[in-house]
Amino acid sequence: MVTAALPYANNDLHLGHVTSTYIPADAYSRFRRLKGDDILFVCGSDIHGTPIEVSALAKERTPAEHADYYRSRQVEDFKRLDVAFDNFYYTGGEENRILTEEFLNAAYEKNYIYLREVEQWYCDKDKRFLPDRFVKGVCPFCGALDQYSDVCESCGRVIEADRIIRPHCILCGSAPIKKKARHFFFKLSALSKDLSDWLSKSDDRDFPKGVVHYVLNWIQGGLADWDITREDYWGFKLPFKEAAPNQYAYVWWDAPIGYIASTVNICQKRGLDWEHYWKNYDSKIVHFIGKDIIYHHLLFWPAMLAVAGYPLPKKYSVNGYLTLESKKMSKSRNWQISLRYILDRYPSDYIRFYLASKAANSISDSDFSWKEFQGRINTGLADTVGNLANRVLRFICDTFKGEVPEPEVNLRIKEDKDFKEFVSKLPSDFEELYNLVNLTRVVGKIVDSFGDGNKYFNVKEPWKRIKAGKEGEASSRTTLYLTVNFIHDAAIYMYPITPNLSTQLLNQIFGSDSKLHLSWDATGKFQVKPGTRVGKPKPLVEKISDDEIKKDIDALEKETVQ
Ligand code: 2FM
Ligand code: ZN
Repeated sequence: MVTAALPYANNDLHLGHVTSTYIPADAYSRFRRLKGDDILFVCGSDIHGTPIEVSALAKERTPAEHADYYRSRQVEDFKRLDVAFDNFYYTGGEENRILTEEFLNAAYEKNYIYLREVEQWYCDKDKRFLPDRFVKGVCPFCGALDQYSDVCESCGRVIEADRIIRPHCILCGSAPIKKKARHFFFKLSALSKDLSDWLSKSDDRDFPKGVVHYVLNWIQGGLADWDITREDYWGFKLPFKEAAPNQYAYVWWDAPIGYIASTVNICQKRGLDWEHYWKNYDSKIVHFIGKDIIYHHLLFWPAMLAVAGYPLPKKYSVNGYLTLESKKMSKSRNWQISLRYILDRYPSDYIRFYLASKAANSISDSDFSWKEFQGRINTGLADTVGNLANRVLRFICDTFKGEVPEPEVNLRIKEDKDFKEFVSKLPSDFEELYNLVNLTRVVGKIVDSFGDGNKYFNVKEPWKRIKAGKEGEASSRTTLYLTVNFIHDAAIYMYPITPNLSTQLLNQIFGSDSKLHLSWDATGKFQVKPGTRVGKPKPLVEKISDDEIKKDIDALEKETVQ
């Protein structure tokens, strides 16, 4: 059961989102599918809460209209990037409403929910409570101006409702007053021990070490109970009899339940049993998130699951932020690149290949740079990957009439023996890196392996040996046989990252039925047999010119890339 964090339906997706979350999740799902696993990969738009309501107000749309608008754009963008969800749903569906109530009722019945009096911002002019983003002010921690009352974008701290300094209502600008309200709290503190036991027992390969370390520190520092109520809010009603008519569930309660709702929705369509994925202790629940939502996914969410009687997640992939030309991305400062922009400019595989190299399943941040993008495509994808594929297939066409030649029975030459062994070991090497979701190393290994392939081809010089008597001819047959098999396997290793290029390459090797060979089992076994007729080699990767990259750099400076 693979999930990718549900994007808020209040903006277009940008490069940070896809690098930290969606490319890793898609690559991992594709890899596990190649391995033959029964996978469901779900996502959807997160449509509740003040992030949507405030952004809708600015555009003079209702929150529901606003969410629909962005949701359909998200669907388009994901499709163009070849992110192959089984389902991209949303948190506003009936499935989610029902499940949200079930989770609330389960927690309530087990006494994990209690009422407590709190002070909330209230606008006397607008006659309404002002949750989260409806109030702006000065950050109590770092003094940054113009911050939302729940989180500071400058220092990243979560701010408790009543602590923001010099607050003002975003609707009318006046200073809000404090008003008492009775809120429902979730007893997170009572689950401290269960959560820390679960985290302490987690496997390093499935839970990024750094992340576990810092979540355990939060627990040791004492977990505060969690306020799951908001007044005058865009969200689901609370099902409790003590709830006031204007009280709703906080967006972070229903959002992760949206993962299950998306599963239920697709399972109904496909005649599958959603509980097989979510309520089955043999199922492996895997979450892909960015580092800003660790607290929600490693504390709130497992606590909710535990209380509702569900198995806990078994694996996480977490990535840090993406900076842009070494500067922090920011919408308000117009320093951001939308996924739409780059999809209009370059093939999806180029984008995936470069951005995957920035996703190491680590909370360290990484950087996007146009020049580096150009370099990685031109030297990595074109000169190294595409070039070897093209040389090998062309050689087979020109010299062996398009048929994969017969290798020698006993390899005599050290380079051949070494290369054969190298090719045989690759499946387990790549498998390990994919399981770690360290795409930085996957991409590195793809380029390095093709580099080794090129080196081997150059050292063996089949174009010379073929003319050097019987032994020379046999030796060049072996070289072509081994390299075409390497390319075939490499196309499969690359498939989770560059599905289109891989399919094209397999098509060139086999003609058009390449899908038949798309399985991890087909690697490391020299499955491209002598006598296989290869297709016409065509250049796979077109280089990016300096002129094109200059257009992108100019567009970024002129702020037209969002
Ligand atoms: O931070 C965000 O963008 C949230 N919309 C992520 C939600 S993930 C899940 F829990 F729904
Ligand atoms: Zn701050």
